[in-house]
Amino acid sequence: MKVAVIGTGYVGLVTGTLLAEIGHQVTCMDIDEMKIEQLRSGIPTIYEPGLEQLLKKNLEKQRLSFTTDHATAFEDVELIFIAVGTPQGENGQANLSYIQQAARDIAQTIDHNVTVVIKSTVTPGTNDYVEKEIREHLAHSITVHVVSNPEFLREGHAIEDAFHGDRIVIGSEQEEAGNLVEDLYTPLQMPIVRTDRRSAEMIKYAANAFLAVKISYMNEIANLCDKVGADVTAVADGMGMDKRIGRDFLNAGIGYGGSCFPKDTEAIAHLANDQAIQLSIVESAIRTNKAQRHKFVDKVFRFFKGNITNKKIAVLGLAFKPNTDDMREAPSVTIISELQKHGAIVRAYDPIVTNECSSVTLQDCVENADAILLVTEWQDFLAADWAIIGTQVKEKNIFDGRNALPMDMLKQLGWTYIGVGRERKQSRGFQENREDQQ
Ligand SMILES: NC(=O)c1ccc[n+]([C@@H]2O[C@H](COP(=O)([O-])OP(=O)(O)OC[C@H]3O[C@@H](n4cnc5c(N)ncnc54)[C@H](O)[C@@H]3O)[C@@H](O)[C@H]2O)c1
Repeated sequence: MKVAVIGTGYVGLVTGTLLAEIGHQVTCMDIDEMKIEQLRSGIPTIYEPGLEQLLKKNLEKQRLSFTTDHATAFEDVELIFIAVGTPQGENGQANLSYIQQAARDIAQTIDHNVTVVIKSTVTPGTNDYVEKEIREHLAHSITVHVVSNPEFLREGHAIEDAFHGDRIVIGSEQEEAGNLVEDLYTPLQMPIVRTDRRSAEMIKYAANAFLAVKISYMNEIANLCDKVGADVTAVADGMGMDKRIGRDFLNAGIGYGGSCFPKDTEAIAHLANDQAIQLSIVESAIRTNKAQRHKFVDKVFRFFKGNITNKKIAVLGLAFKPNTDDMREAPSVTIISELQKHGAIVRAYDPIVTNECSSVTLQDCVENADAILLVTEWQDFLAADWAIIGTQVKEKNIFDGRNALPMDMLKQLGWTYIGVGRERKQSRGFQENREDQQ
C-alpha cells in the first residue's frame, strides 16, 4: 500500500521504517527541515538500536522517502498516519495543537479518498474531533475516515516492539476503514484488537497509567523495605512469580521519566477530573514518582551527614532509560540540579547523551569521586570493571538508583553499596520497633 506518515519523531520514524520494511511504499513528512535532510541521507535523528540499518536498507530499496511537502507526501496514498507530538499542556492536559495542525494540513491538501490513522497518544474523543475537523476544512469533495491505532513501542526496544509487539489496537467506526489498517499490518502476524475509536484511545492511556501505578507501588514498597530491613529485589522476585502479578515493572528505583508515562498519567488524571471522576490511584502514582528522585538525593545527603558541598559526585547515565537518547523528563536532570544546588561538584557520563557537566569517558567521570550515582542502567555500567573503578575513585561509595548493579560483588570489592529498598544493615523490623516502644 502507499502510505504517508506525518511526524518523524520516535514513533513516526519507527512506524515509517517498519511499514517500508514489510513492503509498503512510505513517505515520511515533517515540518523540521533539518530532520528531513538528515533522514534523507540515511542517518537516524534518534538513537534506537537497529534503526539505522533498516532506514538505510529501505532508502536504498526506494520504499522509504522523506519530505517537508504535504502534496508530495500525500500523492496517491491510501493511508495517512499522524504521529506528531502530544506534549503536556497547561494543568497537565494533553496539548493537541500539533494534531489539529496535522488535521488541517491533510484537509487542505488531500484530493482523493483517504483513511487517516492516529498513532499519537490522544485523549478519548480526539479521533472524532479530527474526523470532524478534516471534513469541515476539506478543499475537495472527498471521503475521509479516521482510525485510531495507538502506539505501544518502548524506546530502546522500538524496532523489536514494532515487529514483535504484544498486540495492535485498531479502533474504527467504519468497518472497511478498520479493515484497511488491519490489512496493512498482515505481514507482522501480531494479535489484533478491533474496537471502537474511544475504547482504542482509552486502552493506551489505561495501559500507560497502569504501568506507572505498578512502578510507583513498588517504589513505595521499596521505601518501606528500607525501614523494615527487607530487600525489595527479593520481594519483587517473590511477588513476580505469581502469574497474576508478573515480574515486569516491579523494579524499584528512582521512578519513571520519559516522554510518555509522566505526561500520559497527568493527561488521564486531568481528563477524569473534567468528567468529575477522581483517578486517585493514578494521582498517587504521580505524586510518588515525583518524590522518588528527591528521596534518592536525600539518601546521598544523609550519607554525607547533610553536607555535600564540594563533594565530587559522578552521575552515571543521563537518558531517561538505557538504549535511548531521550532526555524528556529524565530523572537525571532533577538529581543533578539538586546536587549542584547544594554545592556538590557533579560530573556525568552517558554512552549517548551529553550535557554541560558531561565527561568524555566513564573513567574521567569517576576519577577521584566521593560517590558514584547510577541513574540510568546502561549495560556499559552494569558490565563495567568495578574493581578497576574502585582504584579510580576517592571513596568507594555507590548509590544504585536502579538496583541494577551486582550488589554482592560490589560489597566483596569493598564498596559501600546503597540501593533503593535494600538497606538491610540499617534494618528496623517489627521486633526492633517493639523493643524501642518498650
Ligand atoms: N516516544 C515514545 O516512546 C512513544 C511511544 C508510544 C506513543 N507515543 C506517542 O506518539 C506521539 C509522538 O511521540 P514522539 O515521541 O514520536 O514525538 P516526537 O516529539 O519525537 O516527534 C514528533 C514529530 O512531529 C513533528 N511535527 C509536529 N507537528 C507537525 C506537523 N504539523 N506536520 C509534520 N510534522 C510535525 C515534529 O517536528 C517531530 O519531529 C506522542 O503522542 C506520544 O505520546 C510515543
